[in-house]
Amino acid sequence: MAETQEQTVDEGRRDFLNEVAAGALAIAGLGAAVVTWQYLSPNVLFEPSTTFRAGSPDLFPVNSVTYLQDQQVYIVRATDGFYAVSAVCTHLGCITQWKPEANQIGCPFHGSKFTTLGNKLDGPAPRPLPHFLITLTPDGDLLVDKLQTVKHVLRV
Ligand code: FES
Repeated sequence: MAETQEQTVDEGRRDFLNEVAAGALAIAGLGAAVVTWQYLSPNVLFEPSTTFRAGSPDLFPVNSVTYLQDQQVYIVRATDGFYAVSAVCTHLGCITQWKPEANQIGCPFHGSKFTTLGNKLDGPAPRPLPHFLITLTPDGDLLVDKLQTVKHVLRV
């Protein structure tokens, strides 16, 4: 009778140890599968497009400066055509602000000032604000390419 009870205890202990071992193997297998999946899946960084449509030229009156906040670009319509001027200050990269009362673009942090076409007037900025390539799409919208800096005017 004592021997049968001892056998039952041994079998219970063996079953418990088998279950612990199976659980540990399952966790290790799951971890290996996750690491393998991460290794095999591509590490891709999705960045926003550098080209964007600014809309119809008719939206921009002659002698106007329009700030496109989501693109950090000024669309400037001068008498000779369109310019796409970067709103990022060439000093330390702060975002400039259009000041219509002064007819200037100003940097709020260190005081650089620029003309509506981005030429430097004052302050620590080392260079003018860059111009981006601006063209027309086949259906007549303004198209800005922020990867291409140019001294460029789009005559419409
Ligand atoms: S970041 Fe514009 S003047 Fe310093």
